[in-house]
Amino acid sequence: MAAATSSSKMLLSDLASTVQSVPSNYIRPIDNRPNLTQVEVSDASAIPLIDLEGLHGPRRSEIIQQIALACQHYGFFQVKNHGVPEAMIDSMLNIARTFFKLPESERLKSYSDDPSKPTRLSTSFNVRTEKVANWRDFLRLHCYPLQDFIHEWPTNPPSFREDVAEYCTSVRGLVLRLLEAISESLGLRKDYIEKTLSKHGQHMALNYYPPCPQPELTYGLPGHTDPNLITILLQDDVPGLQVLRNGRWVAVNPIPNTFIVNIGDQMQVLSNDRYKSVFHRAVVNCDKDRISIPTFYCPSPDAVIFPASELIDNGHPPVYREFRYGEYYEKFWKRGLQTECCLDMFKTSAAISF
Ligand code: OGA
Ligand code: NI
Repeated sequence: MAAATSSSKMLLSDLASTVQSVPSNYIRPIDNRPNLTQVEVSDASAIPLIDLEGLHGPRRSEIIQQIALACQHYGFFQVKNHGVPEAMIDSMLNIARTFFKLPESERLKSYSDDPSKPTRLSTSFNVRTEKVANWRDFLRLHCYPLQDFIHEWPTNPPSFREDVAEYCTSVRGLVLRLLEAISESLGLRKDYIEKTLSKHGQHMALNYYPPCPQPELTYGLPGHTDPNLITILLQDDVPGLQVLRNGRWVAVNPIPNTFIVNIGDQMQVLSNDRYKSVFHRAVVNCDKDRISIPTFYCPSPDAVIFPASELIDNGHPPVYREFRYGEYYEKFWKRGLQTECCLDMFKTSAAISF
């Protein structure tokens, strides 16, 4: 079972710098490798870039229209003029970089392979259940409400708690603005989505992908959809994110000071399949380590999720049954990152028989 722990160290980063080839427990079967030569290089049109300047002014309806099209056709978009200060973004990336350069013994103070722990450093995806490991270490944090979790966060580097808290709070503001816009783009009341999330939840990952001697054999993260509502991804200047579009993987190259926004599984449910939670993955490279920092905004575990009644009619019967988000989230971590989306397990029997 716990293949990734078969080496003497639990984390990947130090091991990665010593190996000349990928250890066998990281090697994907031949029919499930990244095929890097087949990947399309993104041009400006690969993923819409939406300028949020004026969202609360004269451009609101135009921007909401752009968001509607991006959510329907791509499931992904990038945003600029998003209101999160550049200095905060820089310090967040620096904190992550500094954290993953700390001595392993220091980092291991936060180690746990229990996915139910709100603050933990781990490696791969879920070392308790997966057969093949992924070329990634990550620190996961719950960050809303802050006062419930901040006392568990690392204190090294010394400004960790203060800087990360500021960043989380600012990104939460952006999420709330986007949720209003997305509600309106679906023809729902502006506060509809916000109100379905019960007490709300916000998680974050600091992903660290070390350089890899044979990137064609393994993944940073294999293809998956995000189980939460909406994800706001910050990445450094090293490419690695790829999005599945019309059956092909497209590389999304970083643009400084923009976030990548993607629709998660819960938004697909609320919108009754109008908006799609799209497969994406992270690949690694030989030369450079890479940092990515997704914010996963989610319902709280007790929230009951179901398709909005305004989006159900004779032509659009409900695709999903009602469920608690906690139930969904637990299934997601248990079953691991698979080629099918976890959503299929929550479809109505009528939707399955189509
Ligand atoms: C994730 C994810 C992409 C990346 O953490 O869910 O999709 O580029 N990350 O790290
Ligand atoms: Ni993801």
